[in-house]
Amino acid sequence: MSVDFDKEMEELQASIIADARKVYSEEMIERWLSPKYIGEMEKPQGCGKVKGPCGDTVKIFLDIHNDKIIDARFITDGCATTIAAGSMACELAIGKNIKDAFKISNEVILKNLGGLPEDNVHCALLASNTLKEALTDYLTSKKEPWRSLYKKQ
Ligand code: FES
Repeated sequence: MSVDFDKEMEELQASIIADARKVYSEEMIERWLSPKYIGEMEKPQGCGKVKGPCGDTVKIFLDIHNDKIIDARFITDGCATTIAAGSMACELAIGKNIKDAFKISNEVILKNLGGLPEDNVHCALLASNTLKEALTDYLTSKKEPWRSLYKKQ
């Protein structure tokens, strides 16, 4: 690639980030550009996958021991806000017990992201719904351990 092309790409990226800073909080920008806890987990004790009304999907994987969330990971094909919301959902869930993790609502995610524009509120809801799905999957698997033998990833 030419030096000019690289420079143009850098300028374009800087301009996109500068525009995003006018709309989004630093908390959101930070997790969009450097998402924590992104990736899959080989043998999660709980796994949730939810497709939002916009068509984007979030998948959350939980590593749970004695009803406490030790680790969490997420993947998404969604927008920048969904990346930030998925990252925040995992960040908030790690270290919590199951009961407290169920309290991580979209409002909690929104608050910790410093708020989101109205058009992006559903992205936080997608992340919180996916976390609840993963927690429910864990509880169901605990009650019905044979389910994990047939669990689709
Ligand atoms: S626009 Fe689809 S989840 Fe954000």
